[in-house]
Amino acid sequence: MVWWFAVPRVVFGEDALSELEQLAGTHAFIVTDKIVSKFGYPEKIDKILSARQWSVAVWDNAEPDPRVSTVKEAAEAMRRYNADTIIAVGGGSVMDTAKAAWILYEHPDVLLEAVTPLQPLDLRHKAKLVCIPTTAGTGSEATKAIVIREDETGRKFATNNPEMCPDLAILEPAFVKGLPKDLTTYTGMDALTHAVEAYVSVWKNDFSDACTLQAVKMVFEWLPKSVQNLEDLQAREKMLVAADLAGMSFSNSQVALGHSLGHSLGSVLRVQHGLAVGLSLPITIEYNCRGNPTAAAQYAELGSLLGVKRTDPELAARAFAKKIRQLQKAIGFPLSLKLAGVSKESFDKGLDKLVEYAMMDSSITMNPRDTDSDRIRKMYEYMYRGSPIDF
Ligand SMILES: NC(=O)c1ccc[n+]([C@@H]2O[C@H](COP(=O)([O-])OP(=O)(O)OC[C@H]3O[C@@H](n4cnc5c(N)ncnc54)[C@H](O)[C@@H]3O)[C@@H](O)[C@H]2O)c1
Ligand SMILES: [Fe+2]
Repeated sequence: MVWWFAVPRVVFGEDALSELEQLAGTHAFIVTDKIVSKFGYPEKIDKILSARQWSVAVWDNAEPDPRVSTVKEAAEAMRRYNADTIIAVGGGSVMDTAKAAWILYEHPDVLLEAVTPLQPLDLRHKAKLVCIPTTAGTGSEATKAIVIREDETGRKFATNNPEMCPDLAILEPAFVKGLPKDLTTYTGMDALTHAVEAYVSVWKNDFSDACTLQAVKMVFEWLPKSVQNLEDLQAREKMLVAADLAGMSFSNSQVALGHSLGHSLGSVLRVQHGLAVGLSLPITIEYNCRGNPTAAAQYAELGSLLGVKRTDPELAARAFAKKIRQLQKAIGFPLSLKLAGVSKESFDKGLDKLVEYAMMDSSITMNPRDTDSDRIRKMYEYMYRGSPIDF
């Protein structure tokens, strides 16, 4: 069977930003948000490019979990400016805004919801895309995916196309240093969830597996160090690399049920993405490994990287889920939706929609075990209390 592995060119390490000196173009359009702007990162990019006679525009209206209308606003600004290089500097929300706006800049009539992996998008007539992450989690700088929110319903939808893979990813550890502790833990858990889900997805392959194995080891080693000392540049760099590898992994395989549960939590209760998928991860491992020797063996392989020695695959998979909960506890990540601050009232009120949107999410089709609305409802209830899955 023919398969593909698509990744951007990646520059990483201290002062990776200097790669901008090699960039060809004249009109850079920086996509960012107000918080990232306050740290002065767009200014640093502007300084390098302006010294080389580029003209630079900064658009800083990106929002967490971008809506279609915000993406359209960014695309319109790109058009007015006639950008030839789009530079996203920010977290996954900024990078997804830039990627989606790039599509509409090149082809205003495209319906984002209708983008598919197989239909050509015909990008790169007007601009190329550079991504510089300021969180170490989504790996969006390495993926061909976007996650956007519908304006009318607030529902997040994910879609992908190989042409959306950025031309260049710059992993500059200094740009992640300002990330506070909670977002460091949340986004780190997003990276781990990408790596693990890609390893059991029905589209897994040898290339994605290789990226996963390294990413899982790196998250367990470097996320606690990143959290212990937010200024530890080596730990920040390693987590950027881990997140990037995890992005490469899932972009060329797929994520699964944990992301369907997580996207829905983001849509209905506005739970931060990494927090949402991090809460879903151990639960979906426990669910998927039950009566499913193939998935159980795959989780067991990942567990063995962390010293899990059980021979029974299902028990080994559950021990792997436990290792993840131990890591979460050690870095101060909440172990339940309740501990994450979601009130019982809003949980109960949102539960029907949570189930409905999770069932509509595209990643659910990649999950190694079938599910249905009743079981998803139960999973959310267990997640609210923080109980391991037993069904
Ligand atoms: N396209 C993909 O491949 C992909 C993969 C995973 C997740 N996502 C999407 O990405 C989004 C989540 O991205 P995220 O987790 O990076 O968070 P985010 O981009 O939504 O950012 C969260 C908050 O952190 C702030 N922030 C970002 N960098 C900072 C820094 N260095 N210092 C201080 N504050 C900073 C932002 O301003 C924002 O307020 C979700 O919408 C998710 O669905 C996309
Ligand atoms: Fe994710």
